[in-house]
Amino acid sequence: MILTNPNDLAEGVPSLIGNTGLIRLSRLFPEKQVYGKLELMNPAGSIKDRTSKFIIEESLKSGLITKDSLVVESTSGNMGVGLAQICLYYGLKLRLVVDPYINKQTLHLLTTYGAEIEKMTEPDDSGSYLNARINRVQELLAKLPNAFWTRQYENILNPLAHHQTAREIVHQLGSEPDYLLAATSTCGTLMGMADFCNRYLRNTKVIPVDAYGSVIFGGRAAKRVIPGFGASKISPLLNQELLEPPLIMEEWESIVGCKKLLQKEAILAGGSTGALVAAMDSVHLNSDQKAVIIICDRGERYMETIYSDQWIKKTYGEETFERITQAVNESMVQEPVC
Ligand SMILES: Cc1ncc(COP(=O)(O)O)c(C=O)c1O
Repeated sequence: MILTNPNDLAEGVPSLIGNTGLIRLSRLFPEKQVYGKLELMNPAGSIKDRTSKFIIEESLKSGLITKDSLVVESTSGNMGVGLAQICLYYGLKLRLVVDPYINKQTLHLLTTYGAEIEKMTEPDDSGSYLNARINRVQELLAKLPNAFWTRQYENILNPLAHHQTAREIVHQLGSEPDYLLAATSTCGTLMGMADFCNRYLRNTKVIPVDAYGSVIFGGRAAKRVIPGFGASKISPLLNQELLEPPLIMEEWESIVGCKKLLQKEAILAGGSTGALVAAMDSVHLNSDQKAVIIICDRGERYMETIYSDQWIKKTYGEETFERITQAVNESMVQEPVC
């Protein structure tokens, strides 16, 4: 018996980006209707696959990128991996400007996908690697006429990519969600979904979840070590008029969220997802209301950080480690599921 018609098979890895699963997280939230949008199912492992694909494909269509372009971006994380995959697929050269804190596994992943890497060694005068990286990108643009900067922090195509993310959620849920929770960095995911809700839906409230120590919503900058979540500058894409007040999560709370998601739902995800799980505790839902959180990326990239007890102790101290363990254990005191 032929199970799949070969003519129906999708072509190429870009066709697998998006259309991710949506599942109810009923073990983690037995009293509430909370759903997870599984962006970790994207082929390179994160929500940034969508952003990368949309920016590159739209820029190819409009002629801003040609086969001779050198795509450049400043990123040490998931955007880099997403770009590396899509540029490899379309045969485009990619140069990523990264900071010295980039984790070894991500660096290996980027070079394996064929990206050229420029690692900054010196911060700029204010001590920031972010500015140093942007300065370097500007230098490349000035020097190389074929350089094309994807500008994830400003490019309107970044949020536009996430109209589709929100559209899928409404379609899969069969109704408008009452709440959508998204983690922030460039604010592309957040603002794209918020813009979609503002244009096409009536009742959905979009709640940003940011990291303690991030300045996006006006907080004071403080040390953050979990990558991909929060920012040290305010994103030009942010429009707070379309958003509910932000929920700000500390890193230890993100780790508790990750561990609870793993223990209860067997989903291994990254730090920003843990923050969304933790943030849900302070969102009140009536019995008929539904909330959706974005499961932003896969946990494999965090095995030597969030999922290492040794790293947690070294980074946050014994007391915080105990606090995390206790919070996770308390949530485990429940009937076994089978
Ligand atoms: C793991 C993770 N979560 C959340 C985000 C935030 O996404 P955005 O840049 O769309 O705000 C990112 C961005 O890189 C990320 O890597």
